[in-house]
Amino acid sequence: MRVFSGIQPSGAMHIGNYLGAIKQWVKVQGPESFYCVVDLHALTLQIEPGELREQTTDYVASLLASGLDPDVCTLFVQSHVASHAQMSWLLECVATYGELSRMTQFKEKSSRQEGHRVGLLTYPVLMASDILLYETAEVPVGDDQRQHLEVTREIATRFNNRYGETFVIPKAVLPPSGARVMDLQEPSRKMSKSVSSPLGKILLTDEPAEIEKKIKKAVTDTDGEVRFDWEQKPGLSNLLEIYSGFSGESPESIAARYERYGDLKSDLAILVVESLRAITERYHELRRDPAGLDAIVSLGSQKASAVAEPVYLRAAKAMGLF
Ligand code: TYM
Repeated sequence: MRVFSGIQPSGAMHIGNYLGAIKQWVKVQGPESFYCVVDLHALTLQIEPGELREQTTDYVASLLASGLDPDVCTLFVQSHVASHAQMSWLLECVATYGELSRMTQFKEKSSRQEGHRVGLLTYPVLMASDILLYETAEVPVGDDQRQHLEVTREIATRFNNRYGETFVIPKAVLPPSGARVMDLQEPSRKMSKSVSSPLGKILLTDEPAEIEKKIKKAVTDTDGEVRFDWEQKPGLSNLLEIYSGFSGESPESIAARYERYGDLKSDLAILVVESLRAITERYHELRRDPAGLDAIVSLGSQKASAVAEPVYLRAAKAMGLF
């Protein structure tokens, strides 16, 4: 089963990214899995060139530290495979302005930014290109990418109808828990690399003391009953969801074991610290060897190009190019 997914190297990676996406990437990885650090996507928002370069390497290290094995799957950087940008142009001539301007992420991000970039609007087309180039069947992602997957399916179907069967129609695969981890300080909003305050998100590289502090200070409610109920108790339900994401136990059965918020928070802090400890250690080890990381990415990009290029050529020919 062909699997593709990507992550943007903008801002440090947090446990929402881990539980929503990366943990599933690791679980399903095989010779047919392609995972991509999407540096071209990061250009849609303001980022210093040096910072983008550093973060791209940080992300490669974090993904390996989280358990991706370059001998098993293909891990690469988007800009190293020319077909992504090439395919994006073809698909920009298939997507419509209307469908792109309706995207929730576009509306949110463009309203926060004066003079926002055209790339912010066309971003889902580049994402569709990423996915369709690999004849992807399944895309493991968090809930916030569902709408982008829908538009990918629409673009692919329209292309196939107009130019002949060219693309496999992919589907999003969400994890059973942790598909939408919320901000610890504002549980009505998702945990976000760009928007969440430092206390609102737990980073993969946070020290144990920071993790404990953030969980202890997480916003809950005053009624005092431990119950999984997103409507009435979003803050507490988020903590239960995070607990469930790391432990695999259902949020309801976790809730049933606790009478006090404080006890739940203490155990959750231990669980998160223990779960991230090995990842953080491995991350620092890998980060000390940039040449080793470069070699992995360079091999990954070659493997990815070999798959993506023929699909790009097929699409270009179908449209009448060459
Ligand atoms: P990005 O970099 O924002 O996020 C990477 C992955 O993490 C998931 N995620 C979350 N899951 C649960 N709770 C959260 N609070 C949370 N925040 C983020 C995202 O759903 C995603 O799976 N557009 C994509 C990157 C991309 C991509 C692709 C993904 C580019 N091309 C092709 C899949 C396939 C993005 O910005 O993800």
